[in-house]
Amino acid sequence: MKKFKRTTVTAALPYANGPLHIGHIAGAYLPADTYVRYLRLKGEDVVFVCGSDEHGVAITLGAKKEGVTPKQFVDKYHNLMKTAFGDFGISFDIYSRTSNSIHYETAQEFFRTIYDQGIFLEETSDQYYDEQERIFLADRYIIGTCPNCGHPAAYGDQCEKCGTSLSPRQLINPRSTVSGNTPVLKPTRHWYFPLDKFENWLREWVIEGHKEDWKVNVYGQCKSWIDQGLQPRSITRDLEWGVPVPLKNAEGKVLYVWFDAPIGYISATKELLPDTWQKYWKDPETRLIHFIGKDNIVFHCIIFPSILKAAGDYILPDNVPANEFLNLEGEKISTSRNHAVWLHEYLVDFPGRRDELRYVLASISPETKDSDFTWKDYQQKVNSELVAILGNFVNRVLVLTWKYFNGQVPSSHELPGTDARRKRILEIYNQAHNDLNFSVNEMIRALDEFRFREAQFQFMNLSRIGNKFLADTEPWKLAKEDMEAVGCILNYALTIVGNIAIACQPFLPDAAKSLKRQLASSSFESSWRKFWEKKALIDSIPEFHQLEKPELLYRNVEDDEIAKQIEKLKKPKLPVMEIQEQAQLKPLKPIISIDDFAKLDIRIGKVIQAEKMEKSNKLLKLTVDTGIDQRTVLSGIAQHYKPEEIIGKEVTLIANLAPRKMMGIESQGMILMAEEPDGKLRLIHPSEAVVPGSTVS
Ligand code: MF3
Ligand code: ZN
Repeated sequence: MKKFKRTTVTAALPYANGPLHIGHIAGAYLPADTYVRYLRLKGEDVVFVCGSDEHGVAITLGAKKEGVTPKQFVDKYHNLMKTAFGDFGISFDIYSRTSNSIHYETAQEFFRTIYDQGIFLEETSDQYYDEQERIFLADRYIIGTCPNCGHPAAYGDQCEKCGTSLSPRQLINPRSTVSGNTPVLKPTRHWYFPLDKFENWLREWVIEGHKEDWKVNVYGQCKSWIDQGLQPRSITRDLEWGVPVPLKNAEGKVLYVWFDAPIGYISATKELLPDTWQKYWKDPETRLIHFIGKDNIVFHCIIFPSILKAAGDYILPDNVPANEFLNLEGEKISTSRNHAVWLHEYLVDFPGRRDELRYVLASISPETKDSDFTWKDYQQKVNSELVAILGNFVNRVLVLTWKYFNGQVPSSHELPGTDARRKRILEIYNQAHNDLNFSVNEMIRALDEFRFREAQFQFMNLSRIGNKFLADTEPWKLAKEDMEAVGCILNYALTIVGNIAIACQPFLPDAAKSLKRQLASSSFESSWRKFWEKKALIDSIPEFHQLEKPELLYRNVEDDEIAKQIEKLKKPKLPVMEIQEQAQLKPLKPIISIDDFAKLDIRIGKVIQAEKMEKSNKLLKLTVDTGIDQRTVLSGIAQHYKPEEIIGKEVTLIANLAPRKMMGIESQGMILMAEEPDGKLRLIHPSEAVVPGSTVS
């Protein structure tokens, strides 16, 4: 394997359009943080950068919904996310943002560098335009039916159902997400990055170069993308919010968010290290790792690398350990339905329990397939693993050391003697020692290979083995007869505890802190680096060292704490109307006053006659008893109900609508219907029979 001098680690820049939830954390930030902590423990030179992604339609649409400017909008969410990351303890070296001036400069410089080499194509073409809103409809401004899987609400850039990357012109039955209108075509000029010209190089670099070391889900997506053939991609947009295209005659044009955002990694590094940032981006001896979720794979493995390549002297990602998605209680996490565990709320509801969330999320890390977070499982994993295995082992050892040796590490002298009991202790010790070394080795190997779930499992094995060691040697039973043996056993148990204190640092930073305090380890921690270098158990605590008073690492999660969280999920707050997920429904109409509403005379009537209208396959002619009169109402439900199905039924009617003639017959009112997204119509009845003429308000 190639030797590197340093590592640049990035975690996907989250859109500043809403708070962070556990799906974000499990997907990119926790694995990245664990990995970086591991590298730092090995003493490696590493920089860990992230920040808010503040451009693109996700932002402008969000701002519009909240009735604020994009700047106000990103300020709010950037601060919220930055605080939540900080409070949760994700150890970024910098958390920046793409609305910074340093980012504007960096992104524009990238564009110019590639532009000046004549690499971009410039082209005027017809694009969808919303005449009412006066905007071009790119990306998430437009939805329609996916040509690949038939999903009725695919976006202009991607179908979230099947993952296919799309362009607006491929959508069937396109509609504007802003107005719901059908768009028209209008010419507009844009710059395109000729991805097709990079195809051969990508084949060599990804398909041949990274077959062995990239995860199969990542490699598979890249291969299928490249195999489908690459096309030029437009990298500019007609928008007011974004990084302006740095050319004359390009007013109103900004860089496409997926062009500028990944460059944000570089801008953030520049901001952090104005003098030395180039080392982390241009030195071939630097290893670049992108932590992302699976929806970001093509951008990080195909498009951004091609852009880096075009720009010249940049390094390319060495690995992109993308995760699949995390579900919640068996369902997709959804911002609009408030079906999520929000990081900032977790931190308030479970103060001092950051490790617990880290632990559970890592143990269900969606590394090879989607996985599911449930509160019951959270409780179970905390109580029966963190408390019962890790916390319990450490605490027993420390308490026993205080009980028998006043908190002083007993001598590690070899166990002399050959009697059966001592022999047996030696056997147990040898077995434990082997098992422990095996787990340490596997743990570190898994960390190196981005298999954090396995790594954490192997870490927990140290405590499992420790508990077994105590149970098998039973030092408390020996205390009366063989204090030397007790000392020997506890010395080794303390060695295990010390190694746990070392090994837990990438996974459970708060436990690591507490253990350092309990072990009073500051004077000898510098020797701990050996653990990572040797990938083996080390003599972690010196003989006769005085320990601090023990404290419990974890406490049980009670049923009522969990019940509260489950309850919270059942009662979603008013949804943040996320057009994205509402896309199948019609947009909300403008607000009306109560007076507007009061003008409507809505009543319950009874259908006393119904017949098909001649020459119409849509209309039924109904006679409705309104309590006041019997009148004729035409209703467009012939394709949904047969006349005999609705005779005798109660219906809801607008009774004061101006009469309207259709096909020679006057309709005196309108029957209200529920219309499903697929166009199916359903009559609306009162839940119990009511007197005809009852009003609805
Ligand atoms: N904002 C994007 C998302 O949340 C990720 C951007 S990653 C970057 O899906 F590379 F572009 F920064
Ligand atoms: Zn699709």
